[in-house]
Amino acid sequence: MKDKPVRLEEDYELIISSYSHQGEGIGRIDNFTVFIPGAILGERVKVKIKEVKKNFARGQLEEVILASPHRIKPLCPVYSLCGGCHLQHMAYEKQLEMKQDIIENALERIGNQNIKALPTIGMKDPWRYRNKGYFQVNRKKGRVQLGFYKAGTYDFVPAGGCLLFSLQINKLVGYLEDQLSLQKVVAYNNKTREGNLRNILIRENKSTAEIMLVFITKEDILGFDQNILNDLFRTFPQVVSIYQNINRSPKAVLLGKNFRLLKGEPDLEDAIGPFKFKISPQSFFQVNVEQAEILNEKVLEYANLSGEETVIDSYCGTAAISIYAAKQAKKVYGIEVEKSAVRDAKINCELNGISNLKLFSGKAEEWLYRWRRSGEEVHLVIVDPPRRGCSSKVLKEVIKIKPKKIIYVSCNPATLARDLKYLTKDDDYKLKKVLPVDMFPQTGHVECIAYLER
Ligand SMILES: C[S@@+](CC[C@H](N)C(=O)[O-])C[C@H]1O[C@@H](n2cnc3c(N)ncnc32)[C@H](O)[C@@H]1O
Repeated sequence: MKDKPVRLEEDYELIISSYSHQGEGIGRIDNFTVFIPGAILGERVKVKIKEVKKNFARGQLEEVILASPHRIKPLCPVYSLCGGCHLQHMAYEKQLEMKQDIIENALERIGNQNIKALPTIGMKDPWRYRNKGYFQVNRKKGRVQLGFYKAGTYDFVPAGGCLLFSLQINKLVGYLEDQLSLQKVVAYNNKTREGNLRNILIRENKSTAEIMLVFITKEDILGFDQNILNDLFRTFPQVVSIYQNINRSPKAVLLGKNFRLLKGEPDLEDAIGPFKFKISPQSFFQVNVEQAEILNEKVLEYANLSGEETVIDSYCGTAAISIYAAKQAKKVYGIEVEKSAVRDAKINCELNGISNLKLFSGKAEEWLYRWRRSGEEVHLVIVDPPRRGCSSKVLKEVIKIKPKKIIYVSCNPATLARDLKYLTKDDDYKLKKVLPVDMFPQTGHVECIAYLER
């Protein structure tokens, strides 16, 4: 490490000159990049170096010497311990501006695009928006606690009234802690891989307040008296569905393959705008429905459909965007690799009276290839991939299908920028608009819509 201008565990002073893709402050020491979580653009800070790599280092914020006028006191008492939120120290308007900048920078540096992103659409009240959470189980001095692992570690942090969840979820978490503490529950330990109860998944419909609960265990046994679920149903009549999931994996994966319905309904009903959705415990559903409605409406606005078009929604999940598009297009084809999501998507079509949406189970790579071979004209291709972005095979097939429009919904500016570079490389497509929609306030996660025309 001799040739590096920074040393482990030593303190340095620097000025924050930009942000990383996740909203960490970036400063430089002799042109060497240092990432500092919790630091704001323009601030002078003192940091302790905690990690040194070939091209960058990571520092821990020790002191803010000259604070930004946009620095505020985080509302959550465990903000610095938990790591689930990254931006509570920053005024919300600045979080929105920062997300716009992050996208522009990624598009310019990685994507070779020279475009101004539109201002980020934020929330009026950027708290308590999450409809889904995995709560880690811990037992300390006989008492069961629910919470999270500190980001990147197995250090347990009690949820302690997390401000991203509703008051009802927080109340339920407290109730579960009390009830499970009276039982012989053995909390699973990720380090030793011993114990049974790993996580509790809670999903909530934000408009009806109905709840689904999943107890995730390592063994087939629940490890507590199932009769306590009767009291839970009485105390929280909003709980409509309780499952057990068996997850034997030694890895830190969240869910196993086996589900057992313990009580109530098999699905939770939720809604985005005017549309209803049935959600099974493992299916993907946007965690912030208020912003998902805005995002889907914006996708439709850019699609500008007249009723004559054929649309492909690859990576369609439980068909949230496909159903919006089906209301205005002639036909929509949805592609999804996860079988349970395809099953839910089919139910969702029935639930919303949609008959012009056809669903295909399998990989976007394979189905897009078949479409291209079929020669069917396609007006619009929507892609909404996971964080890793689209494979080059998907992008290649999309270009060959020659849709008039491509709408790319992304939750990762870096892979979006990489993929846009590919889609625009031969000048077949031009990037027209980029709109960030804040799906994850208080965190560094950035969601956006990119709109391209042929
Ligand atoms: C970000 S979600 C999009 C969900 C949906 N558009 C929505 O708004 O609810 C990404 C989805 O892509 C699916 N997926 C991942 N890889 C895929 C692939 N190669 N082909 C098709 N679907 C894939 C995942 O199972 C997941 O449901």
